[in-house]
Amino acid sequence: MKLLALFAALFVLVSAAHAQQVALIANTDGRKTVSLDGQWQTIVDPYESGYYDYRYQPDPNGYFKNAKPKTKSDLIEYDFDSSNSLKVPGDWNTQSDQLFFYEGSVWYKKSFDYQRRPNVRLFVYFGAANYFADVYLNGEKLGQHEGGFTPFNFEITNLVRDTGNFLIVKVDNKRRRDAVPTLMTDWWNYGGLTRDVKLIETPATFVNDYFIQLQQGSRDRVVGWVKLNGAQFSQRIIVRIPEAGVAKAFETDASGTALVDFTADLKLWSPESPKLYDVTIESETDQVRDQIGFRSIETRGTDILLNGRPIFLRGVCIHEEAPFRGGRAYSREDAQTLLGWAKELGANFVRLAHYPHNEHMIREADRLGIMVWSEIPVYWTIQWENPATLENARNQLSEMIARDKNRAAVVIWSMANETPLSEARLSFLRNLFGYARTLDPTRLISAAMERHYVNAMTQLIDDPLGEYLDVLGCNEYVGWYDGLPDKADRLEWRTKYQKPLIMSEFGGDALFGNHGDASARWTEEYQENLYRHQIAMLKRIPFLRGTAPWILMDFRSPRRQLPKIQDYWNRKGLISNKGEKKKAFYVMQRYYSDLQKTRP
Ligand code: GCU
Repeated sequence: MKLLALFAALFVLVSAAHAQQVALIANTDGRKTVSLDGQWQTIVDPYESGYYDYRYQPDPNGYFKNAKPKTKSDLIEYDFDSSNSLKVPGDWNTQSDQLFFYEGSVWYKKSFDYQRRPNVRLFVYFGAANYFADVYLNGEKLGQHEGGFTPFNFEITNLVRDTGNFLIVKVDNKRRRDAVPTLMTDWWNYGGLTRDVKLIETPATFVNDYFIQLQQGSRDRVVGWVKLNGAQFSQRIIVRIPEAGVAKAFETDASGTALVDFTADLKLWSPESPKLYDVTIESETDQVRDQIGFRSIETRGTDILLNGRPIFLRGVCIHEEAPFRGGRAYSREDAQTLLGWAKELGANFVRLAHYPHNEHMIREADRLGIMVWSEIPVYWTIQWENPATLENARNQLSEMIARDKNRAAVVIWSMANETPLSEARLSFLRNLFGYARTLDPTRLISAAMERHYVNAMTQLIDDPLGEYLDVLGCNEYVGWYDGLPDKADRLEWRTKYQKPLIMSEFGGDALFGNHGDASARWTEEYQENLYRHQIAMLKRIPFLRGTAPWILMDFRSPRRQLPKIQDYWNRKGLISNKGEKKKAFYVMQRYYSDLQKTRP
């Protein structure tokens, strides 16, 4: 008994050293978790009076204390337990009409009991919180997180108690000029704890993170690493892929990292056969299971090669808007519906715009054999000169890669969308490209750029960014913002770079059920006609290796206010937010089925 108490005390000491934010726990699926989803008590706090005093100084007795009056004369001006509640995961905007346009702070409180056990560490994991989160447990600050679309976790081993725990999160979705994204976006700024929240248990020393993928360009050499977290750093690590007869052992170094390198005869992941292997990573004190696909993705000249063979990316863009109910999508069902529609369109690729989508989306793409373009929200005109903005973008980039680096479906990391030419922007983005390549040397790097006219009929892609990308992404709206649909018939495309092009956006708005002749904007006929001319133009671009029309489904945007047509929806979807397919959907579907026959 005494030994146990000693070990427990020792353990608390060790874990105290690990309090607060730790490296993202790579895979939560294979671990014992406790979901904290459900109703959370909330306080809407537009003036942040739960955080600042009247002198706008942080208040040491803020709402994170979850204070209760001890006597009838005590003055406490808030009470979580008699306040409204909001569902987590979920944005607050679609849960209450009062909060539909709300941008500001909301305090969330979740009470829970937890049976502590010796040698077990505990973490609280957030799938995402839009935009800025201050996190507290039992009145103690765990830390904060900036960025609305990537996960983060904190260790709470030495703060959690058996009963009466209160986890409090202040979520603030106020837009800021120096933030990522910045003030102006064409999507709804859904606020809140928008993805799952859970407790994760681990052993004292556990497998914190790992990277197990094929070396770029190889079809049998698996390279990567396994990183331990805890006191017992020097351990033997065994990577097992039973189905492929793999059981390889590696030793960790002084930092608890083992470099993984072995060859194996693996069935490669592809859209036709999205093979996922059961992979186990064992250390002497821990074991993690995952489902991993192995494929190589590279470019050669203007070709994109999947597993060494040229491929055409038949894609579509998707926003993380929930089908049918609207609001921020977060569930496996949402992912299955959206990716199911993409499959129906004939897609083998999706561009998840303009921020990392939830993990269900990526894992479902892995299972369905849909390749993914994943992007950080460096969108339009970011504060390029601001070092804090760069650090923020780098952090979101590393969290995006940390979560999805073992997903075969993810083939492209995108650093930016429609950013204006300047030296400051170029050095900002070059910094991100370099960082992405160090974090993940196995995938392709891209960005959605703009083009320009060298003469009335010739478009040129010569954005200086192209120099540093593996794949060129280009957005164009010929026929919508740029002329009428038949303008596409007369256009020629040129590029400065011998690299593959993905037309990362094109399209136009149509309200489902709104009919008229093909020259009438907002009608299905106009959109259908636009797509016909687009496809004819796309077929004439010799270095085109992928297309991703904007967009699969209508999505909410505060910039779209045309009554009875937009009503705060961007109507460029091929499908309405109620799942109704517009005429253009079938034009695109036919193009993709032809492509499937001619360019598998
Ligand atoms: C832009 C942008 C999208 C936007 C779209 C549109 O190109 O990248 O985020 O929604 O065009 O105007 O509909």
